[in-house]
Amino acid sequence: MNSNYKVGDLVYDADIYDGMNTNMNDLQFYKRWLPKNKDSHILELCCGTGRLTLPIAKDGYNITGVDYTSSMLNQAKTRASEEGLDIEFIEADMRTLDVSEKFDLIFIPFNSIHHLYKNEDLFSTFNVVKNHLKKEGIFILDCFNPNMQFIVKGEKEQKEIANYTTNDGRHILIKEIMRYEAKTQINRVEWHYYINGKFNSIQNLDMRLFFPQELDSYLKWNGFKIIHKFGNFEEDAFDNQSDKQIFICQ
Ligand SMILES: C[S@@+](CC[C@H](N)C(=O)[O-])C[C@H]1O[C@@H](n2cnc3c(N)ncnc32)[C@H](O)[C@@H]1O
Repeated sequence: MNSNYKVGDLVYDADIYDGMNTNMNDLQFYKRWLPKNKDSHILELCCGTGRLTLPIAKDGYNITGVDYTSSMLNQAKTRASEEGLDIEFIEADMRTLDVSEKFDLIFIPFNSIHHLYKNEDLFSTFNVVKNHLKKEGIFILDCFNPNMQFIVKGEKEQKEIANYTTNDGRHILIKEIMRYEAKTQINRVEWHYYINGKFNSIQNLDMRLFFPQELDSYLKWNGFKIIHKFGNFEEDAFDNQSDKQIFICQ
């Protein structure tokens, strides 16, 4: 497996990302799990352009956002300063983050753990979380529940998944095709970008899949107690039909 793999630049081009990701159905869920005490300190790993970070800060919380893609983080910083929000953003890899503070809540939202391709990447991240979580602190993460029917369909034909205009005026059309690699459990997703009506490039969006029993065990073996496992942001219990795996851990 290519361990130097990187998600294609256009996938995390901040304006293209923001134009595509306007659905906020996870925000209310994360807000419900914020500590009651507004003096609590929150850490968001993989904060991207601040889609969740900014509204949480606006509610009066002290939140730190970490991401390793500078274009995403720059967008987050610009938006925070435009809105007069004082948020600490740190450009760092969540696998190796080391800050002197401990947090009441740490979360990794929006399927971001699918970018941890090897078990060592996941376990290093869990270690970082443990090192930065207060004793009674809460750790939340959400990711997909692997759906083989979806993948088999997605391998058969290219399908259009986005068609919109960005804030900086580019018309974006994205077509998706995928190929599941059983050995590494990576869904090799390709996004074919057409910008302003012309083919631009093929960008990789590899997604390491985590099967339900596997992820439950990894969390437990790494010292986390699973308090709840939900199957959607409405907090229904995880079951056979669930699209998501959402963990509340201590
Ligand atoms: C799906 S986006 C989520 C962004 C944001 N949390 C949101 O909800 O819109 C995933 C983000 O994870 C970041 N990321 C992926 N692997 C990372 C790592 N090892 N360390 C830090 N950031 C990482 C990417 O740069 C990207 O901004």
